[in-house]
Amino acid sequence: MLSRAPLASDQTGAQVSQTAERAATDGEIDLAVVRQIMSHFTPQDYQEAQELILSALQEINEHFGYVSLEAAEIVAEHLATTANRIYGLLTFYADFRTEPRGNHFMLLCHGMSCYVMGSQRLVQELADRYGIGDGGTTRDGELTVQVVNGCLGVCDRAPFVKLDDDYYGNLTTESFNELIQRVIAGGRPAQEHHGHDGSAD
Ligand code: FES
Repeated sequence: MLSRAPLASDQTGAQVSQTAERAATDGEIDLAVVRQIMSHFTPQDYQEAQELILSALQEINEHFGYVSLEAAEIVAEHLATTANRIYGLLTFYADFRTEPRGNHFMLLCHGMSCYVMGSQRLVQELADRYGIGDGGTTRDGELTVQVVNGCLGVCDRAPFVKLDDDYYGNLTTESFNELIQRVIAGGRPAQEHHGHDGSAD
């Protein structure tokens, strides 16, 4: 669960951008839906409004997979804060995204065991072959990758990734590329796991 951010810099809503009113949608996120979501947040006073900011951002992030800048501006306006503060929260917390995810989403473990077993080679492969880094999305919009510096809990299968709802371990550069290519092409990867036990290859 996200902890609440400091409120010291958040004094007025005077800096709220006017751009949220310029368009009904931003092309990706239906801003009417954002306003509908925000209509459920009815703070009684300024302090309560500030306490609802993260919940509102989480709901929008969950609904759309990210929070666009235009959506953030609506949140700022509704909860009497500044767009700058909203942007700060969106970039501070790793759970939030400010750009849409690709059709497929990968968590690439870069914890100690995975690092020792070669996750850096996978990170490098993403950069070299697909042109993306942590949080990036391939140009065709098919794959978004988030590098996890913690541990996904399957160290005996390192290096390890979670791709969409499935888990893949003992990856080499070759099997990593094969996995990505097959998933992007809509096929079922050869190495497939439906749980953390690593019982099937
Ligand atoms: S460090 Fe990657 S699964 Fe534990």
